[in-house]
Order: sequence, then C-alpha cells, then structure tokens
Amino acid sequence: MWQAPPSKSQPPPSKSQPPLAERGKRWVVVSNRLPAHYDTRKRKFVISSGGLVSSLLGVNYQRPILWLGLTTESWDAKEIAASLKISDRIEVVPLTVAAELYDPYYNKFCNGVLWPLLHYETHSVSWDFDAWQKYQKVNRLVATTLLKLTSANDDLIWVHDFHLMLVAAQLRLKRQRQGVGFFLHVPFPSYEIFRQLPFRSAILRALLNFDLIGFHDYSYLMHFTQTLHYVLGINSSFNRIHFKGRSVDLGVYPVSIPTAAINKAARSKRVKEICANYRRRFRDKKIILGVDRLDYIKGIDLKLDIFHAFLQGYPDYRSKVSLIQVIVPSRTDVPAYQQLKENIEGRIGYINGYWGKADYVPIYYIYNSMQFHELLALCQLSDALLITSKRDGMNLVALEYVAAQMPAQPGQVLLSEFAGAVSIMPNAIAINPWHVEKSAAQLQHALQEDHEIIAARNAQMLDYLQDYTGGEWADSFMTDLLKSARRSVKLVEDINFPLRKNSPLLEKIKKIKAHRQRFLFVDFDGTLVPIQPRPEQAAIAAETLQALTTLQAQQGFAVVIVSGRDRNFLWQQFASQTFMLAAEHGAEYYDRQQECWHSLVSSPQDSWLPLALQMMEYYRQRVPSSFIEKKAYSLCWHYRNSPVLYATYQARKLTEELEFGLANFPAVVASGKRIVEAKAIEASKGAFTGWFIKNCMDAADASIVALGDDQTDEELFIALRPHDLSIKVGMEETKAAWRLSEQQDVLTFLRLLISA
Ligand code: UDP
Ligand code: G6P
Repeated sequence: MWQAPPSKSQPPPSKSQPPLAERGKRWVVVSNRLPAHYDTRKRKFVISSGGLVSSLLGVNYQRPILWLGLTTESWDAKEIAASLKISDRIEVVPLTVAAELYDPYYNKFCNGVLWPLLHYETHSVSWDFDAWQKYQKVNRLVATTLLKLTSANDDLIWVHDFHLMLVAAQLRLKRQRQGVGFFLHVPFPSYEIFRQLPFRSAILRALLNFDLIGFHDYSYLMHFTQTLHYVLGINSSFNRIHFKGRSVDLGVYPVSIPTAAINKAARSKRVKEICANYRRRFRDKKIILGVDRLDYIKGIDLKLDIFHAFLQGYPDYRSKVSLIQVIVPSRTDVPAYQQLKENIEGRIGYINGYWGKADYVPIYYIYNSMQFHELLALCQLSDALLITSKRDGMNLVALEYVAAQMPAQPGQVLLSEFAGAVSIMPNAIAINPWHVEKSAAQLQHALQEDHEIIAARNAQMLDYLQDYTGGEWADSFMTDLLKSARRSVKLVEDINFPLRKNSPLLEKIKKIKAHRQRFLFVDFDGTLVPIQPRPEQAAIAAETLQALTTLQAQQGFAVVIVSGRDRNFLWQQFASQTFMLAAEHGAEYYDRQQECWHSLVSSPQDSWLPLALQMMEYYRQRVPSSFIEKKAYSLCWHYRNSPVLYATYQARKLTEELEFGLANFPAVVASGKRIVEAKAIEASKGAFTGWFIKNCMDAADASIVALGDDQTDEELFIALRPHDLSIKVGMEETKAAWRLSEQQDVLTFLRLLISA
C-alpha cells in the first residue's frame, strides 16, 4: 500500500557510512518500475502504485540501497529520491530508455505477452516477435548499466519480476562471478501454459543464470521445475538445479508488509477522524470494500457478478449493503486495459441502475489512486474486503487490510483461492470467485458473523504478519542469495575451444603425459559417436578412429573402449584395431594377448533375465517406437524415438516395477538417456575401472583420461584417482572435473591430446 514511514525504533543509518566491506554487501534493487514517478496532474513526484513498489518500499532497510529502474523521461534522481521519505537510505538511479524502445518492450511484450501468459489468460496474448527483440535489448541495456554501477565483490543484485528475466544471462557474459537473485512477483504458470511461449527456452535458460530464484508460493516453484523438466529436459530437486556446472537455488519467499507501520498509522488520529466521517455517512449500511489495480486478472467482473447475485439472492440486504470499489489506474496505454475499463464501468452502471434508489447507491466507484490514510479509513469502515482475482501472484491488499483492522469493529477477508496470499492466510474466507452463487452465499454469511469470531481470526493473521514482515521477506531472500552466490562457484570446468594459452587443462594434460603408462577410457554412444535413432546405425567416423589410433601408436595412450554395447557390436566396430574392449559396462572384456573374451560376472543371469524381459515387453508394446536391446548380461529398453512425456512416465513405472521385481536377484536397474536397463550386478563401469586399476596397470605410475556422456559413466568417474582426468560430455550434472558441452567437441579434444 504505501511506503512504511521510517520507524523510530530502527533509525536510518547515519550519513557518514563506514566502508562497504565493514557494512556487508550493498543491495542493488532492479525493477522496471521506479519507486516514484512524475504525476502530470499533481505536478509533482508521487509514489508509484502496484504490489512491487509497495513490497519494496515496505522494507525497513538497514543499509543503503541502490534502486535502478526504467523511465522514458529524463528525471532527476534527486527529485525522485526526495519524494520518498526514506530517501537517505535509497539511492535512486533512473535509467532512461527511448520511448520507441520502451513501448514495445513494456506495453507489447511485458504487458501484451508475458503478463497474460503468466496469469493463464492465453486468449489475451498478442504475439509480437519484434517486441521480443526489444525485450532482449532493454534487458541488455539494464545489464550493461549494472556492470557500470556495481561490483561482484561489494554488491548483491536483486532483480524483480518478469520484465527483467534476461538480466543475469547478459551480466554473466561479462562477469562470471555474480551474486544476482531474481524474485517473481507474479505466478509461474503450469508448464502447459508456459510452453506456448515461442521464446520459452531462451527465457528459461536465461533465468538459470541467476544464483537464486524466488517465488511467492510453492506451487509456482513446482510449475517452474516441471517446466524446466519438460521444456529443457533439466531435472532438479525442489530447491536446487545443477546447470552448466553451476548450481541455481530456488526458494519460496511470500512477500509481506510493514505490519507495525500500517497498524500504527491505522490507529492514528487522522485515520480515526476520516473513518468517523465515513461512519456518519454510511450509518445504517454495511460496506464491502474492493481495492484493485485495473487489471483483468483481478476478476472485477466476477466481483460485480457476485455482488449482483448477493443482492438478488438475499433481499433483506437490498438497500442496506454497498460496495465501495477502488480501481487504481494501470497500464493505460494497453488496449486490453482500456477495453476492460469500459466493460467494468458499463457493468457498474447496469447494477447501480438495477438496484439503485434515490437514497441508495449499490456501488461507489472510485477510479483513482487513494491517499494512504483514506484507504486505511476505508479498510476500517468496511465490514468485508472482497478479493476475486482470477490469478494473482500474492495480493498485498489482503495482508494490508488485516493490519489495518481494529478488534472492536473487525472486517472479514474474503479471498480468492487463486491469489497467492491464500497460502499464508489460512484464516481468511477462501472463495472460488467463478462460483458466483456460492461466493455470494459466503459473503452473506461473512456479513452476519459474530464480531468476536472475526476478531479472533484476524488476530491470528495479524500475529503471523507481525512476525513475518516485509523486512523478513527481504532479509530471508538476501541472506539466501549471499549463500547461493558463494555456492554457485563452478563445480566443473568447461573446456572451450580454442583453448587459452595458459589454460589449466594444458597443465593437466602435461601431468597426465608425464606418467609412464597412459590410458584413454572412452565411452562409445554419445561420446565417440552421436546418438542415432537406432543403435545399429551408430558407426565411428574415420577421423575419430584415426585420432584414437594415433593416440595409441604415437602418444602411448592405451585405448580402452568402455561401453554398454555387447561384445558383437564392439567387435564389429573395432576388430581391426588393437584397442582393449570392455563390453556391457565392463561385464566382459577382450583380451588381446589370449585373443578371447573374459567375463567379470560370476552371478547367474538365467534366474532374472527372462523375468526382466517379460516386464519390459509389456512396456515395449505400449510405448510407440520403443524397443528392447538384448545382451548377455543386460536388457535395455530404449525410448529415444517415442513421445517424450508418455514414454518418460512409462519409464518411471518400468523402473519401479523392475526394482521391485528384481530386488532378490543379482541384478540392478539403471536409467540413462532415454533408456531403462536391467543389468547384472557386476556390470558396472565403476567396478570395471577399479578392477583395471588393480590388475592391468602400474597404479603408481599410470594415469587415465576418461570421457563419457551418460549416467553409467558417472560410476567410472567416481572410480578414478585425483591425478586422472575425467571429462563429461554434455550439460547434465556430473562427478567429472571437466566438461565438453557437445559430442562434436570430443574429436577436437582427442586432437588436442595428441598435440598438447
Ligand atoms: N495501492 C496503491 N494505491 C492505491 C490503492 C492501493 O498504491 O490507490 C497499493 C496497495 O495498498 C497495495 C498495492 O497497491 O500495496 C497493490 O498490490 P497488490 O499485490 O494487491 O496488487 P498488484 O498491484 O501488485 O497487482
Ligand atoms: C503486479 C506486478 C508488479 C507490478 C504491478 C503493477 O503486481 O507483479 O510487477 O508492480 O503489477 O504493474 P505496472 O506495470 O504498473 O508496474
């Protein structure tokens, strides 16, 4: 609602500040909207409306803040700051963006595409590809400005809302180490909705450059992780994602309010006087209050329907109950908002005409921003607050209403189930505004409930809001951001070609080559060759084979192909070479001296293989284009060509079934890239590597370079020693120390190994 007046108990810091290092990191708040704007009617700077500004001004900052926001005007930062009463703690930096750029970015992309999409209003989206370019441009501009204004050491950057989702990605191009968090003030929708966005992948990837991403509600976080899974194939836990060798933290931080300041102002003489005036005016009436920004997500049309149904269904209340509906002007340049205003005004006119009398106005309609004390007085005057949002990130008005209540004459909160606030206000009366008749009945019940019951419910909500204030919201996010920024240091070194002259990889290769014995352990599918639609189509390219041969013949690297493939396939690929072959994840290997295959598996297979085959067959039949690869020590169900979602679901079921069914057999179940495999317990690349180190090399003076792309290669990486070199091929999470992002880079790496 408003900016919290500076609290006496927590004085603003003195103007002569100690150096940054002693104060801890400076907070840099970044948002599209500045905390204040110039009001041409009032001819002065006024505080901006909307939940974002309210929530950020509601924080009683204990440190200096730099707030970067956008404007199309050339406003003076000092004038803006002067309009905020806590200006000595907030340094405002207005970034002027040309109107020709700002209009498509803000009106067309942010408000015309992202806003309706994030709020499930897909029919209102007007796709605009040019506006997407402008969105990217403005995000780049913000990042460039941040690079000039901030340093990775001294600042923690907190980016707000859907207008600026690309900022961290742009920053990272120039500054690897960051400390940049993102808070989404709106819902993150179901992936079914988000995936309609043509720019979905670019936006999701860009978001993963933040160190911490915060949401109001757990359901938004879950939607986000599901979207990452289905759109980008990235898996995550409920609070962390590993991406490109970094970790990105996720968290739920419901926004809150400056409860004490609002409660204190609500008790002030000024508010009491305004309220007393209102009470005289509405002496014999019950009042329902509505306070909404003009927006289709607020469901003002539903609210009017509910009020109409209420008067229709409960004749005793006719002429005795009025709705005071405050509508705060918003996004006045967007046609959908102009149309909405007309529709709402038409509907209000209809209801007033239908139920109105010479001495009774059903709906008092205010289309304006309210004065702080006026609004508090309306909160106190009213018997109920009616919130009917169709979707709403949080809805601060609901929280503020509770803080403004006086126990002697308490008002009820009727809160839409579709507003995020419901998750932290279990004592509010939850309504489904789409169920108009039921909501009207709940309203009727609310108006006649006992004051003591209402006051007790409000007290419980107030208790929570007194403990968990806007300050706690900001502190908890920024404390976590500091931790995330420390943790998100790289876990895996990326190998990018061409290598820098002083690349640590060259040093590492030098050390590897200094050993008397050298081995190259290399996986086949996805590492030496790209994944093919059918396994039998995979064949090693001549130049890759040449590189392996040169490494072995000229550089003294004994090549060991460690693959999940069976012996026949490997033999067919490498019969004419002298490489060692380890088939079926190392279950058996080819002995070049004795010219025969040896098995490392001692357990019997016939007890479980037929059973596993039977289970897999069921899934092969049901999932189109899936197939079973039969090997001596394992069975592998492939679904690389099958419909992703359906097959992924069936793969989970199959995994569970196999794990349960084979629990008492010497077999294990493993999932890899679009496969589910049941294999002999000894068939493990890790076990093979351990055996090899012990039996086939001079462990004291031998080194291994290992490359692999799949889950099964992780066991191999774990079995290596610190002086070996492990390389993951691909972007998934890994235990390897180095990473090649694509399979195509493998050949370049092999050539580097030859020449380095
Ligand atoms: N508000 C305002 N001016 C008004 C009426 C309300 O600034 O005339 C404030 C209100 O008190 C609240 C914010 O605007 O703090 C609206 O936040 P909410 O989360 O309810 O909705 P949003 O605008 O973010 O969609
Ligand atoms: C919602 C958004 C906020 C924004 C507000 C007003 O609350 O989450 O980001 O402050 O709407 O929107 P505006 O476009 O006027 O800044």
